[in-house]
Amino acid sequence: MKLKTQYVCQSCGFSSAKWLGRCTGCEEWNSLVEEQQEVVSAKSTYRHSVTPQDAPSWVNLDQDNKDLKFMNRYKTGISELDRVLGGGLVPDSFVLLGGDPGIGKSTLLLQVAKGLTCQQESDLKVFYVSGEESVDQICSRAKRLGIEKSDRIFLAAQTQIETVISIIKEMKPNVLVIDSLQTFTCGQLESAPGSVSQVREVAARLLSLAKSQGIAVWLVGHVTKEGMIAGPKVVEHMVDTVLYFEGDSGQNYRLLRTVKNRFGSARELGVFEMSSEGLEEVKNPSSLFLNERSENFSGTAITSTIEGSRALLVELQSLVSDSSLAMPRRTSVGIDASRISLLAAVLERHMDFSLSQNDLFFNVAGGLKLSEPSCDLAAAVAIWSSFSNRVVSPHWVFMGELGLTGEVRRVSLPEVRIEEAKKLGFKGVVLPEKNLERCKKISGIELKAIQKISQLPTIIDEI
Ligand code: TYD
Ligand code: MG
Repeated sequence: MKLKTQYVCQSCGFSSAKWLGRCTGCEEWNSLVEEQQEVVSAKSTYRHSVTPQDAPSWVNLDQDNKDLKFMNRYKTGISELDRVLGGGLVPDSFVLLGGDPGIGKSTLLLQVAKGLTCQQESDLKVFYVSGEESVDQICSRAKRLGIEKSDRIFLAAQTQIETVISIIKEMKPNVLVIDSLQTFTCGQLESAPGSVSQVREVAARLLSLAKSQGIAVWLVGHVTKEGMIAGPKVVEHMVDTVLYFEGDSGQNYRLLRTVKNRFGSARELGVFEMSSEGLEEVKNPSSLFLNERSENFSGTAITSTIEGSRALLVELQSLVSDSSLAMPRRTSVGIDASRISLLAAVLERHMDFSLSQNDLFFNVAGGLKLSEPSCDLAAAVAIWSSFSNRVVSPHWVFMGELGLTGEVRRVSLPEVRIEEAKKLGFKGVVLPEKNLERCKKISGIELKAIQKISQLPTIIDEI
């Protein structure tokens, strides 16, 4: 085996023949580390080609074609997760679960192991390999999660990928969990665990094994900002599905987002709550984000945002106060601060008031991060309500994008948003006039159209 020296960026995987102070791939400083890489000749690449010799070169898309497998999916027993995966776990898929340390990745995957094996008629075998915890530690966690005994869940504390692969060949599991990718090493490479070349090599070996044996693989990856440990970004292109687990350390709920999915929508969101018995699904996330809603206060408004295929209702809060600063403050949490400044400028222009002597604070309740322009109207209502000290009815939802000329523009999927508001017992929805025609047939909830932001005070009086 021939080795050559390469300098590899530990944050993006860019490699260079000579050392550079700054990576030309991701512009990170001091991230290049010397690594030995195996030189792969064109001949050997050909030998490792994925397509077996006897496989047909092309097939016809036909339900009855024997060469094509229309696979069933494994249900994980956690419906929020099944939805995020696009309807369950695909049998030979490669899923990367990324997230900050301590967010609950290992907990979720143990619960998946339980869900996959404890269903009736399930004959699935799950192999959980941890490079971070001892078998005893995993056992005690499993006990806490209500898994007392299972003859189809197998545990191992290993860090050598060759050992893991030989166990897999013997055990033939259906689902494999690698927790976490950064702790595993491949004996042939000299670089440290977690370096880009190790992470890539470990993932590549598991990938060829999984695809040839039809094993669904879960890879856990810690997201780190430091260059020392390769982030899951370096393997994102190899895997079928990338999920990110996020959440506020101060809050108990966790959001599971799809970043990439070859088998379903890439914008799904699952909501969980961390309890003493592990992660619990939140079936109705809107009520979670609204349950501490402040009623009869000025400065708040409810909006509806689309996450994946469903709508979420969230409360936006604003506080406008007198400023003693020459440059008043504009602070925003959960929504882009420049968007808030822009909305404030539109309000000043079209509603004839001035915020130049006021500090403006903005917050999305519950710690959610919003990026959809459909939240503009509600954000503008919250700012206006705080400035003019007028209470806005807490039983109405606002949606619409604000243009610079003060017009309220249409939003996508208005029906989905209105149905969610109806389900939660809201009295009405203020929506862009352009959306009204499409939604007229929805009954059981009042709809009020708004064309221009200057109509806001009249509408607030009416509702
Ligand atoms: P963990 O799954 O170990 O996180 P990761 O694998 O992403 O690093 O989760 C650790 C946190 O979850 C830890 O702070 C304790 C908490 N936790 C609970 O609150 N309840 C539970 O039942 C379990 C198992 C963990
Ligand atoms: Mg863990």
